[in-house]
Amino acid sequence: MTEQKRIPVILDGDPGHDDAIAWTIAHASGRFDILAVTTAAGNQTIEKTTYNALRVCTLIGLNVPVARGCPRPLLTEPMNAPSVHGESGLDGPPLPEPAFEAEPIGAVELMARVIRESGDKVTIVSTGPMTNTAALLIAHPELKERIERVSMMGGGLLYGNWTPAAEFNILVDPEAAKIVFESGVPILMAGLDVTEKALVKPADFERIREQGSAVSDIVWQWLEFFYRFHRTLGYEGAPMHDPCAVMALIHPELFTMRDYYVQIETLGDYCKGATVPDWHGTLGHAPNATCIMDVDRDAFADRLVELIGRYKEVGR
Ligand code: BDR
Ligand code: CA
Repeated sequence: MTEQKRIPVILDGDPGHDDAIAWTIAHASGRFDILAVTTAAGNQTIEKTTYNALRVCTLIGLNVPVARGCPRPLLTEPMNAPSVHGESGLDGPPLPEPAFEAEPIGAVELMARVIRESGDKVTIVSTGPMTNTAALLIAHPELKERIERVSMMGGGLLYGNWTPAAEFNILVDPEAAKIVFESGVPILMAGLDVTEKALVKPADFERIREQGSAVSDIVWQWLEFFYRFHRTLGYEGAPMHDPCAVMALIHPELFTMRDYYVQIETLGDYCKGATVPDWHGTLGHAPNATCIMDVDRDAFADRLVELIGRYKEVGR
C-alpha cells in the first residue's frame, strides 16, 4: 500500500489545554510533516505560551524549531484566559521541563523561512489569535501563494463564547483575523459551530487514562482540568476546539462543511470580534472560508482516543 503524502504544516497556537491536545494528536497521526511550532499570545502571555509549547514538544517528542510569536495583538489591548487554562496557561499535571530552547528568531521569521524553503505549499494550523499569520502576510506578501491554507480554530457563525457575538481567538486579535480572512488564502474554519459539538466526555477520559502511557497520563489530566471549567457551564464533556483544526485535515469525512464569505467585525458596541457569514450571498462575494458546521461526535472521540494511544506503542 502506498503511504499517503504528509501534509507540511506549521503549528501556531497558544497552549492552552486544547492546543496541547491538538499538537499531541497531530504528531501522533504521522500524517503531517511538522516544519515548525510557533506561539501566540492568547490563553496566556507569550512568555507562558512559549514555555508551555516547549514543554509540550518535549513531552510528546516533537523535535522541531519552536519560535516565540508576537507579544501582543496587532492593535487591540492584550487579553488572556486564566479562568479556562489557569495562571500558567496550562495548569494541571506537572510537565517535563523543556529539553531545548526556542529559536533565536521570532515566529514570523521562522514561518517565512520554512515556507520559503519548503518544496510544497505549507498549511498553517492556527489555534490561537491569528497575530503571527497576519504579521507574516504583511511582512512577506510574496509568500502568500506558498501557503496552502490556514486551518484555524476561531469564531463561530452563530454565536460567541467570550461575548455573545465573539469567540476568544478572534476577539483577542480581530484585526489579525480580518487580515487573514481578507487575504485570499484559503481558510478552513473550525468555529464554535462545530467545536462545541466535538465533546470528549468523561467516559473517553477514562479510556485515555487506561492506556497508561506517560503522554496519555498527562492528556487525561489536561482533559479533567479543562472540563472542570466547562462542567460548571453545563457541558457534557470537554469541547475539543483546537483538535478540530487538526482532525479536519486528516479526517474530513467526520465533518460537515459549507463555504461562506465570512467577514470579521473589528468595531461595534456589541459585536467586536464576530465572524459574520454572508448566509444568503447578498454581498455577491466568492466564499473565503470553508466553515465546519457539524461532526460525528462518537467517531471524533474514537479517533482522538486512538491517536493518544499511539504514544504507548512508541514508549512515551
Ligand atoms: C479557543 O480559545 C482558547 O481558550 C482555546 O485554546 C481555543 O483555541 C476557544 O474559544
Ligand atoms: Ca488555543
